Amino acid sequence: APRVFSGIQPTGIPHLGNYLGALQTWVQLQDTFSSILYSIVDLHSITVPQDPAVLRHSMLDMTACLLACGIDPEKSCIFQQSQVPEHTELGWILSCLTSMSRLKQLPQWKMKSQQNEGSVGLFTYPVLQAADILLYRSTHVPVGDDQVQHLELTQDTARKFNKRYGDFFPVPVALMGTSKKIRSLRDPSSKMSKSDPQTLATIRLTDTPEEIVTKIRKAVTDFTSEVTYDPESRPGVSNLISIHSAMTELGVEDIVRQSQGLETAQYKLLVADAVVEKLRPIREEIQRLQGDPDFLKKVLDSGAQTARQLASPVYDAVCKMVGFR
Ligand code: TYM
Repeated sequence: APRVFSGIQPTGIPHLGNYLGALQTWVQLQDTFSSILYSIVDLHSITVPQDPAVLRHSMLDMTACLLACGIDPEKSCIFQQSQVPEHTELGWILSCLTSMSRLKQLPQWKMKSQQNEGSVGLFTYPVLQAADILLYRSTHVPVGDDQVQHLELTQDTARKFNKRYGDFFPVPVALMGTSKKIRSLRDPSSKMSKSDPQTLATIRLTDTPEEIVTKIRKAVTDFTSEVTYDPESRPGVSNLISIHSAMTELGVEDIVRQSQGLETAQYKLLVADAVVEKLRPIREEIQRLQGDPDFLKKVLDSGAQTARQLASPVYDAVCKMVGFR
């Protein structure tokens, strides 16, 4: 049976990349799929150091953000990853099917292990991600561009398991929204990222209208003051057009046509306006929900219960196939 699974790390308020690359699709899928799980993946977040108090708080913040974006707990199971111990347990079994050389090729390890010490957890993290997905025998995984290689590893791992122990896991496919990759507002050659130290580089769902206007006004573009869409040679302006398009549901071509004759500086104000208007109700709803932590905890408790009920029989079957029972 079709089942959607995806995850997001509880490392602060989501930014426009998270929203346009993933969360917007998460919401839309609720109209077409009847079995959906969205996990706030705290186990993943500690692969790099986290302050415990901040992490604890981020869990509730992220829950508020998912709800405010339109994830409906009646339609989707929202849960905290560490509340379902089978993620880690299945992760171990899958890690025994995964070669070191396969993991060493993955881009996030190459990148992050240079910045930090590079923990064993950071290295094996993609295996845990495969376990997240396969534990529910998921078939569809909505993610942004940066997760594609992790999904390929998940597919390989499912095939390997099926070959060794017998056909059991569906090979899941990635579902990509229209904004696969939103770029940093300060450096359009890199993606918008939660860990970017430059505050001007990312727009968060809770940014005020003034902050949004400032960040977009200062977005790095190029020396051509004209609105054309060409992600290769004009990544800065093209990124703004992508954001604008996703925020308004106007097509890229319509935007370019409508913006003929505008200078980049004038165009930026239009984009800022669209972002402000789109995020306004979301920001207000996040603030409202943040004031009701008991409700957020209830959503997470009931999500964890549902997720455990789904995970337990799958993990049991795996244990039998592997020879533990
Ligand atoms: P995370 O928390 O880094 O990001 C959450 C989602 O946001 C997408 N995303 C972007 N999309 C477009 N442009 C960007 N600049 C941008 N930045 C982030 C990501 O692709 C992702 O879909 N490893 C995952 C979490 C995870 C997971 C899973 C996902 C754990 N287990 C199982 C799917 C299935 C991560 O770190 O996402």
